[in-house]
Amino acid sequence: MHLSLIIVTDIFGGLAIEEFDPIDWGSKEDKQHFKELTTKIGTVIMGRKTFESIGKPLSNRLNVVLTNKNLENFENVIYLKGTPEHVINKLEEMNIREAAVIGGKEVFESFLPFVEKIFITIEPIILKNSIKLNPSLFMNFKLVTTNILNEYGTIVLEYKKA
Ligand SMILES: NC(=O)c1ccc[n+]([C@@H]2O[C@H](COP(=O)([O-])OP(=O)(O)OC[C@H]3O[C@@H](n4cnc5c(N)ncnc54)[C@H](OP(=O)(O)O)[C@@H]3O)[C@@H](O)[C@H]2O)c1
Repeated sequence: MHLSLIIVTDIFGGLAIEEFDPIDWGSKEDKQHFKELTTKIGTVIMGRKTFESIGKPLSNRLNVVLTNKNLENFENVIYLKGTPEHVINKLEEMNIREAAVIGGKEVFESFLPFVEKIFITIEPIILKNSIKLNPSLFMNFKLVTTNILNEYGTIVLEYKKA
């Protein structure tokens, strides 16, 4: 399984300002980048709180939502639970070879050891009281490309496992 982690943060690594943040502080160029990249990858893995924050399944992608609850059925959504290894095995049994881990904090941190690539978008803003990831999890990744998305300065950094 080839796993990529896709995240957007402020300049201090804040990824959300509340438990159910709709990320309306993200730029439209990043939303377009996210849509194109995740549609190309085809499958997204997210936690239940992120799914609820988005409010609906992402179109033209298989939405893998991690939860221990019984939730409403939607087209293009499957619910899984268990360790990252178990989830990865289940997806491989379905012949899925590539997926994007799209959050939130809990899912980013649990899947990071299994991720090959990280696409981190940095918005040139400062969020107050934001939720951040543990930076030590990001060791052993090497910067491979940088791409400025707009004249405002939104930048995407692509890292690969060293
Ligand atoms: N900046 C970004 O790029 C970005 C991206 C995504 C999300 N976010 C933000 O992150 C915040 C949410 O993050 P979060 O850490 O609070 O929540 P989360 O990771 O989205 O979801 C956590 C929930 O997912 C389920 N879960 C996680 N791992 C599981 C597993 N292995 N097996 C079964 N269920 C599992 C559990 O749901 P149940 O309680 O249903 O069992 C858990 O309560 C939101 O504000 C969102 O907007 C930011």
